[in-house]
Amino acid sequence: MSPPISAPLALGVAEAAAPATLPAHVAIIMDGNGRWASARMLPRIAGHRAGAQAVRRTVEAALRHGVGWLTLYAFSSENWRRPATEITDLTGLLRHYLKSEIDAFVANGVRLRVIGERDRFSRDIQDELLQAERRTIANTKLNLTVALSYGGRAEIAAAARRVAAAAVEGRLDPAAIDEESFASALFTAGMPDPDLIVRTSGERRLSNFLLWQAAYAEFIFLDVLWPDFGPLHFAEAMAEYARRERRFGARPG
Ligand code: FPP
Repeated sequence: MSPPISAPLALGVAEAAAPATLPAHVAIIMDGNGRWASARMLPRIAGHRAGAQAVRRTVEAALRHGVGWLTLYAFSSENWRRPATEITDLTGLLRHYLKSEIDAFVANGVRLRVIGERDRFSRDIQDELLQAERRTIANTKLNLTVALSYGGRAEIAAAARRVAAAAVEGRLDPAAIDEESFASALFTAGMPDPDLIVRTSGERRLSNFLLWQAAYAEFIFLDVLWPDFGPLHFAEAMAEYARRERRFGARPG
């Protein structure tokens, strides 16, 4: 049985030799909670709860491997179209997760960031998110970013609005807008682009996740449902990444 999510992070486990090339930033599309639950004739919330346990295992694995950046797609802009009961369950789980994990984040050097349209959440959740970000702001071991009410197209449109407003107000010369300055208007300003994007559950889509930032990412699609994801899957993804040859558009040497 999985430990409760308030249990201390299990960081003492010996890890296999680190692959030669470790991704600096791993982003994960956590998919398959619903299918995991229905395969067991359980309500969808049971799948999301088990998914939250997998989040904990993944944070532990990232810390053990020494991956500096981990970004998790927890709630998309499109997820607001789910039944109200499921949204209430998911936001309740998020509230519970923040409360139960924050001390472990502080103790283990995890800095939490949230990207997405956070103002679509209730005031109390927004406050808790901000408080968790503030409490962990000085941590540097693992940068954990949770994408909440996140959509890549909405993010790019919002960045375009900000850049356009700055130009209209005379604070920015339109001729000076380049990839770097545009990226600094995205939610992910200051973060490295993902080197590796993993999606679970056998689906092979990006689903509006990190559209701008994924330009040169490697992709790994796993058949495992998210609640079953664990340290071995993480280690396998690291090993597979190390075997990939990344050229960033350049010709093979
Ligand atoms: C996708 O599975 C998963 C989600 C929409 C929610 C992700 C939430 C968690 C992993 C738990 C909470 C996370 C945190 C950070 C506390 P799905 O419901 O789309 O599954 P399905 O495609 O099988 O129906």
